[in-house]
Formats: sequence, structure tokens, C-alpha cells
Amino acid sequence: MSGVRVCLQNCVRWGQAVIVGVVALMVGGTFASAAMPLNETPDTIEAVLGEWEPPDMDAVISIRECGETLCAELVRHKYADINTDINNPDPVMRARPLLGVRILDGLRRVKADRWKGGELYDPRTGKTYLSKLKVIDNNHLKITGCIGPGLCKGYVWRRVPHMTTLLYTHAAFRNHEVPPGHVEHPGRYEVVEKALEDKVFATLDRRIPPQVSVEDIERIHSTSYRELVEENAPAQGLAQFDADTFLGPSSLDAVRRAAGGAVAAVDALYAGEAKNAFIAARPPGHHAEPERAMGFCVFNGAAIAAKHAAGVHGAKRVAVLDFDVHHGNGTEAAFWHDEGAFYASSHEWPQYPGTGRETDRGAFDNIANAPLATGAGTHEFRQAWGERLLPALSDFGPDFIVISAGFDAHRADPLGGLQLDEDDFAWLTREIAGVARDKAQGRLISVLEGGYDLPALAASTAVHVKALMEA
Ligand SMILES: *[C@@H]1O[C@H](CO)[C@@H](O)[C@H](O)[C@H]1NC(C)=O
Repeated sequence: MSGVRVCLQNCVRWGQAVIVGVVALMVGGTFASAAMPLNETPDTIEAVLGEWEPPDMDAVISIRECGETLCAELVRHKYADINTDINNPDPVMRARPLLGVRILDGLRRVKADRWKGGELYDPRTGKTYLSKLKVIDNNHLKITGCIGPGLCKGYVWRRVPHMTTLLYTHAAFRNHEVPPGHVEHPGRYEVVEKALEDKVFATLDRRIPPQVSVEDIERIHSTSYRELVEENAPAQGLAQFDADTFLGPSSLDAVRRAAGGAVAAVDALYAGEAKNAFIAARPPGHHAEPERAMGFCVFNGAAIAAKHAAGVHGAKRVAVLDFDVHHGNGTEAAFWHDEGAFYASSHEWPQYPGTGRETDRGAFDNIANAPLATGAGTHEFRQAWGERLLPALSDFGPDFIVISAGFDAHRADPLGGLQLDEDDFAWLTREIAGVARDKAQGRLISVLEGGYDLPALAASTAVHVKALMEA
């Protein structure tokens, strides 16, 4: 009966974890915002909502709000066939199964100033437990529970990674300087940041984008171009790189973190820490060519991240998908002769920068361009992606997908002449996530490119990120 013994050992540990977890859930009810800086105590309950794994156990518990209480439900457990025994006098045995059962019905929320210790009332048994909970970071909770005098135990629970969408934001993205009247201005970042503060985004895993490494920049850009950018980034005033591309004192940090966030997101996905990611950066990157800044863009973060997945994580086939109203000529140039890289773009035609003809297909048939006539809308856009670009992506068979997410094909955009609305972006995001799931084990990140009507940018970003979260 050794199998039984193994089971019992595991079950006992599981039972203890559930008990301390249950205790923590009520205490967790006093907790807070996922928009907190890392390593600080959150101040809304959203930080504890979601799915969590106890240590060393093949089990998942889901914490959510239900009325005035928090509820926890066992959604998966290795020994899920064990029957519930809520009348067992042994608390470990009693807490053990719980499959599909709300175990926190009847819990009262405690006040925020009492978060460190609280009472758990288990309505099934009438018993009260003491507990302590500490949020270590967005992905780890330390839960210490006591089931009796001297019977206290602490565990670090881990957020179930596949449930999480990462969000990379940074003040440098707001600060990046441009001349007065420039259409790619700090207000763009501000509306995106504000839109993503909505309650529906509280469960995003918010991270700080690091600066990109020299090695990663040079997966796409030449050494001489990188040095040109670094040497010409001004300590004050503005340096001009092309007709509409400028760098100010904060800009080098911004362009390094924009690409660095995308690279960090790739690493996080391969580490199994998240299912997908959005990098809410400015300036955009998709016009930046290997040797040249243009069209607001300095470093091509999408292309850099894709090649990082190939170079560091062994992805054989990487794809960048671009629905910005402008063609990403920088990404196309970087991928043209690269058999392991695929680029697909829908864009207005004619429009800046004047590249992206349907007949431009790359050295390995690895480029797919769908120019859309000025005035085209939902039908043409969905047809181009549904009938041409997405099937080409599937045929390519990507191991990793990066979205160049520009929202200037929205009907309200002052630079673009297409007639899309938010629903179209949400639709395409879901479609791309579907291919990612089928072909690339779900590996998908998205970097912000254009979008110049502020309300449309905010609303479009919101539906895009929501679709990533639901993917
Ligand atoms: C990108 O666009 C610019 C401006 O139209 C053009 O000069 C350049 O040749 C394009 N780059 C590529 C690789 O097509």
C-alpha cells in the first residue's frame, strides 16, 4: 500500500497549506493594488485575486471575489478524487479535498489596519484560526497559518504563471522629449497608462523594463548606428535624427527601456512566469532600420525581442505581426534575408513610409504585406488578416510571436486614413493569440507602436490588453 502512504503524505501537506491559505484569504481581503511598485505591500484586494499554487504540490487554487467575501476554490489537484470529509475532527483531513467548493463562504473582511493578523471563521466547522499574510511581490504570497497553539507553518505560494499578462511601463516613456506640437508626444503615454489603471487590469503583473543590452541591440542594429545614437543623445535640448525623429535628455533611457522591456518579456515567457506581455512604450520602433532612425523610431524593439528569442532561447522561427497604419519598413529590412524570421503587415496605401507592396515578399517568402486602400475598414482589414496574413503566419509555424501594435488605423486617427475601430483590434489580437496557442505554445508579446488620437489610443490599447489577458 505504498501508493496510499505517498498520497497521505502529500495530502497532509496539502491540507495544511489549504488551512493556512484559507486563513490568508480573509486577510488578503484587506490587500491591494496590482499597480503598486514592486516589493511593496499592495493596497487593494486585487493583488491576491487569481490562481495560486501551494509549494511542492500539483494543485491550483483560485481566489476571487464573491459578494462581501473572498472565495477560494480548488481548481486542480493531483488527488482530486479524494472525497471531502467536512465532519472529520482532524482539521488537516477536513480541509483536504474542497474540489469545487467555496471554502470561504461566510468570511468577513477585516479592516486594512488589521491585515497582519486576522480571524478566519470557517462556517462549516464554527472554528476560528489565526493567520498572517505577507505579499512578497506580485507573484508570491507568504502565508503563515496556525491550526492550534504552537501549530504554525509558513509557505510561499506562487501565482500560477499561465494566468498572467505582464505589463511593462516606465516614467522614461512619458519623459522622452519631442519638439512642441509633435504628434508623438508624452500625452500618448499618459492616456495609455491611465487606461490600464482601470480595475479590469488590476491583475496584470506590472514590471519595470530594464535597459536593453548592447548585445541585444546589435542583433538588429549595427555597432556604428548604436554608437551614433548613444553619442548624439543630448544632455540638454534636442538632437534631430531625421525629419521627425528627435532625442532629448530622457530619450536614450526611453529607447533602451522600450527594447529592454520587450527582451525582458521574452525571458519571462520562456521562464514560465507569464503567458504573454504588453510593453506600453514610446517612442515606437518599427521604422527603425538596422542603420537608421526614422519615423519617430530609434531602436526596433519588436525585431530585437524576436531575435533575442532566437539567439538566447533557441526559437527557430520568430514572427513580428504589425497592424500599425504605417508599414514597418525597419522590421522588414531587418528580416528580409533572414530565413528564420517572418514579418506580416497590414497598412494604409499610399501612406508613409511608402514601402510594403504586396509583391515585396522577402528573400525566403518570409514577408507578407497587405496594403489597404485609404478608406478601407473592418471588412478589408479582417479579410487581409483572415485570408492572407494569418494563414501565412500559420504556414511559417512560429515558435515565438511579437505584435507591433499600432492603433493609428483607427477611424479617429489624425495620421491614418483607415476606418477601423477597437473591435477590430480586439478581434485580431484574439486571432493572433489563437495561432500563438496552436503553434508557439502561446508565446506572444506585444509592443506599442503608433496611435495618435488620444481617446482612440486609450480605448484600443485597453481592448488589446484585455484580449491578451483573456487569451
Ligand atoms: C523605409 O522608408 C524610407 C522612407 O520612405 C525609405 O527611404 C527607405 O528606403 C525604407 N527602407 C526600406 C528598407 O525599405
